[in-house]
Amino acid sequence: MTLEHRIGRADEIPVGEGRAFAVDGDMVAVFRLRDGTLRAVSAVCPHAGGPLADGLIDMKVVVCPLHQHVFDLATGCSTTGQPPLAVYTVTTDPDGTVVLRR
Ligand code: FES
Repeated sequence: MTLEHRIGRADEIPVGEGRAFAVDGDMVAVFRLRDGTLRAVSAVCPHAGGPLADGLIDMKVVVCPLHQHVFDLATGCSTTGQPPLAVYTVTTDPDGTVVLRR
């Protein structure tokens, strides 16, 4: 079964940045790419617990701010040898509400 979570408005996330949201006891990092695309992955870096929502992003990856491991935002896979992140499907309702599905 797919669970949906409405977590806030897309325009609360500045373009080019991420924000962390608590979802069912997990922390999820939601990023707004420069073209407006939203991506959502686990917010806790599997290397040593770094805050991925604070990481630098481009159109493809996030770089953890603690030790600079790199994760693909679409697949969750690390390009630097770390375990993968959980990936969430993220869409917006017509009113701009962000909806996460896992
Ligand atoms: S905690 Fe993220 S790279 Fe070390």
